[in-house]
Amino acid sequence: MSRVASIPQQLQAARDQTLRLCARVNEVDFRRQVHREFSPIGWHLGHIGVTEAYWVLQQCQGEPTLSAAYDRLFTPTDTPKPERVHLPARDEILAYLGAVREQVLNFLTDGGCDPGHPLLRDARIFNMLLQHEEQHQETMSLILRLLTAERYDSPPPAVLAEGWSRPERNERPPHSSPPPRGERGIAPPSGQAMIAVPAGPFVMGSDDIAHTLDNERPQQEVFVPAFLIDRHPVTNAEFLSFVAGGGYHQRSCWGAEGWRWRAHSEVEHPLYWRRHGGGWVEIGLYGSAPLPPHHPVQCVSWYEADAYARWLGKRLPSEEEWEKAASWDPERAEKRPYPWGGREPDPSTCNCDAAGEGTTGVGQHAAGCSPYGCEDMLGNVWEWTATWFQPYRGFAAFPYEGYSVPYFDRQHRVLRGGSWATRRHVLRPTFRNWYQPWVREIFAGFRCAKDL
Ligand SMILES: [Fe+2]
Repeated sequence: MSRVASIPQQLQAARDQTLRLCARVNEVDFRRQVHREFSPIGWHLGHIGVTEAYWVLQQCQGEPTLSAAYDRLFTPTDTPKPERVHLPARDEILAYLGAVREQVLNFLTDGGCDPGHPLLRDARIFNMLLQHEEQHQETMSLILRLLTAERYDSPPPAVLAEGWSRPERNERPPHSSPPPRGERGIAPPSGQAMIAVPAGPFVMGSDDIAHTLDNERPQQEVFVPAFLIDRHPVTNAEFLSFVAGGGYHQRSCWGAEGWRWRAHSEVEHPLYWRRHGGGWVEIGLYGSAPLPPHHPVQCVSWYEADAYARWLGKRLPSEEEWEKAASWDPERAEKRPYPWGGREPDPSTCNCDAAGEGTTGVGQHAAGCSPYGCEDMLGNVWEWTATWFQPYRGFAAFPYEGYSVPYFDRQHRVLRGGSWATRRHVLRPTFRNWYQPWVREIFAGFRCAKDL
C-alpha cells in the first residue's frame, strides 16, 4: 500500500488520537485557558477541523465554507487567545469535525490526489494536515499536564484522589529562597561523556516537498567545524547537581537576558519538579512520581538549558551540529532518514507517539543510535539548540507565508528531535520546531556541545 493510498487510514488514526486526548478533559477544562500562552483544548479541536476544511474543501475542492463563524473563532489571527474560551458545545464541534472529514474522504475517493494540483501532488496537503493535527495533539498533551500540575499545586480540600501525593505543607515558596550562594557556588562536575564529530561537510535539510515543511527546505551542503556533543540528553540527575549546586543563583552561568528572566520569574528548578519528603517528585500527565534520575530533564526554558551548559563550560549545539550528529553517516557520506537508518520508528529505536505517556531513561533505545553514537536524538525530549529560527538559503514559503515566515524574527530558538509525545509524521532529523527562549511548558530538554 503506497503512502498516498493509505492517507484515509492515516487521517483516521490521527483523529482517533485527537479524540482520545479530548476525552480526557471534563466540560469545564475543555473550554478553559489554563495558561495564558495556550488556548483551551476545545479550541485546538475546532482549529484542527477548520484548518482541514480550509485547505482541502475550500482551497483544493473550491467549496464554500461550512461555517464562517467557525472560521473566525478557530483561526488564530481572527480570535485572540483570551477570547478562545467562548466555544460551542463539545458535541457541536465534534459534529463539525465529522462533517468536514466526511467531505474530505469523499474528495479523496473522487480522485483528490490529482498530480496536477500543487497542493495535491504526492498528497502534500494531506501530509501537511497530518503533521498539523499531530502537532496540535502534542500541544493538547502539554495542556493536560498543566491541568495536572494545577490540581497538584491546589489540591481539593477534601480527600485527594487515589494515586495523588500532597505537596509538603511547609514547602518553601519560591520567593523565600535561600540567599544566593555567590559567584563561586559548588564546583560543577564534568558532565557526561561526549562524542567527537570531526570537521567536514554534511547534507542538511530536505528536498522532499511531500513530507517536509517549508522551513526544512531546500537541502544543502553545510560545512561544520569539529565539535563534541553529549551522547544523550542531559538527565534529571545531571540537572539536579546544577540545582543543588546553586546554578540558578550563580550569575556567571547566565546570559544577560536569561539572568533577567530568572530574577523576574523566580524560577529555581524545572517546571514540573516539586520538593517532596526531602527529595523531588515530578508531575507527569496524570500525577506525581519520584523524579526519575536517568530520564532526560524536561520542561526547561532555553535560558535554563543555556545556563546549565555554561555551568559546565560547555554550550548548546547549533542546529547544524545537532542535525549532523543525528543523521550523517560519515562512512557512506550520506544522510540517513532516521538516526538509525531507514526503518520507521519503533520502541527499540526511540520513545515517541506518546506510547508510554512520558520520558524513558536515556540509553534505553540503543538500537536508535546515530552513526556517531548519539542516543535519543529522536523522541523522548525536544532539544533546544543555540540557533535562532531563520530561513535556510533558498527558502520558499509553502503553502502560505504564515506557517514559518512570521517567526523568522530572532525571537525564537530552534528545537530538534521531537519528544515522547511527538507523533511519527513529525518525527525526523530535519524537522525544526521553534519557541521563545523563556517557554518551559513544551516537552523540551537539551544536550550540550563543545568546540573540539
Ligand atoms: Fe494550527
